[in-house]
Amino acid sequence: MKILHVVGARPNFMKLAPCHRALVAIGGMEQIVVHTGQHYDDAMSDAFFRDLEIPPPDINLEVGSASHAVQTARIMERFESVVLERRPGWVLAYGDVNSTVAAALVCSKLGVRLAHVEAGLRSGDRSMPEEINRLVTDRLADLLLTPSRDADENLRREGIEEDKIVFVGNVMIDTLLHGLPRARQELMREQLGIADRGYALVTIHRPSNVDASERLTSLMTALGRVAEVMPVVFPIHPRTSGRLTARDRDVLGGVRLLEPLPYHAMLDLIAGARVVITDSGGLQEETTALGIPCLTIRNNTERPVTVTEGTNRLAPDPDVVVRLALEARPNGSARRPEGWDGKAAERIALTLVSRA
Ligand code: UD1
Repeated sequence: MKILHVVGARPNFMKLAPCHRALVAIGGMEQIVVHTGQHYDDAMSDAFFRDLEIPPPDINLEVGSASHAVQTARIMERFESVVLERRPGWVLAYGDVNSTVAAALVCSKLGVRLAHVEAGLRSGDRSMPEEINRLVTDRLADLLLTPSRDADENLRREGIEEDKIVFVGNVMIDTLLHGLPRARQELMREQLGIADRGYALVTIHRPSNVDASERLTSLMTALGRVAEVMPVVFPIHPRTSGRLTARDRDVLGGVRLLEPLPYHAMLDLIAGARVVITDSGGLQEETTALGIPCLTIRNNTERPVTVTEGTNRLAPDPDVVVRLALEARPNGSARRPEGWDGKAAERIALTLVSRA
């Protein structure tokens, strides 16, 4: 069987890695990796392929940054000819980025089957570009591979046919469990001189938090206040660093800004943190799997099990972020939701084989 993976942005690469590996293990598959080029900086892309030991992409569409419409259209235009030429049995698309929805549109029009990894997540917030991408991709996909039971319910509620929905669990946790021993060898905490369970780790990059300057400054002020009490480490996404003003850098005070980190270095920092402050999707899951307190700077989450079963709390208000960060204590035990067991990609591979 010929399987074509399409990825484009940083959070896709961690999901591709275990699926690619599981399909190699099954054998008899021809795998093609198409990188759309949505992310192109070494630190946002190539570093992840090396770090996660994914073979370099067979094809790079080199679309780069642009408005959502232009970026999505460019991917569609270039991806269509790849699909026509390669004629895969299945296309695997991951997560909720622009590359995901572009691939779904192309495949559905060409009549090529598309499987969506991480299907069914819903924040209910259509001001989030990712929510639009999730809704459209799931509507068009032929196979919806879900990470949690709430996702199954969301899809049923939207009228998706039952035989298209397959609960497989969370591939991000496959990568996490696989990578933990490697992560500790990175010695990031030692290199940064920060004590185990003694620091806050921050990532912020959502348009809703960084695109309006007042909102960004109020969040940076909150981080500066946390840094008066404990070390704060902030590997910064290019979107966010591009928007920081001199005033923002001033209010950040003692916060330590780092370049975006490769996967295992970041995982080492997550696993050792006292608290993680983030607006990322993946970090909400990783902190739950590791039992690390997480404050999500959003009004909603498409990953509700991280709140109901895990360590996640929604904290959109900067003052609340400061208060909860100072109160945060490791709660010891990590409880992993169903299917967050390191075997999700294996279940995906078996599902694909059964639907060859
Ligand atoms: C994208 C995803 C988001 C995901 C995030 C992870 C969509 C709609 N959004 O957001 O869901 O959480 O990736 O990182 O697909 N840039 C660079 N170098 C790069 C990539 C981006 O400098 O390699 C800068 C550019 O200025 C670009 C901006 O970051 O305009 C935003 O990049 P883009 O791919 O549009 O969205 P992200 O914010 O990265």
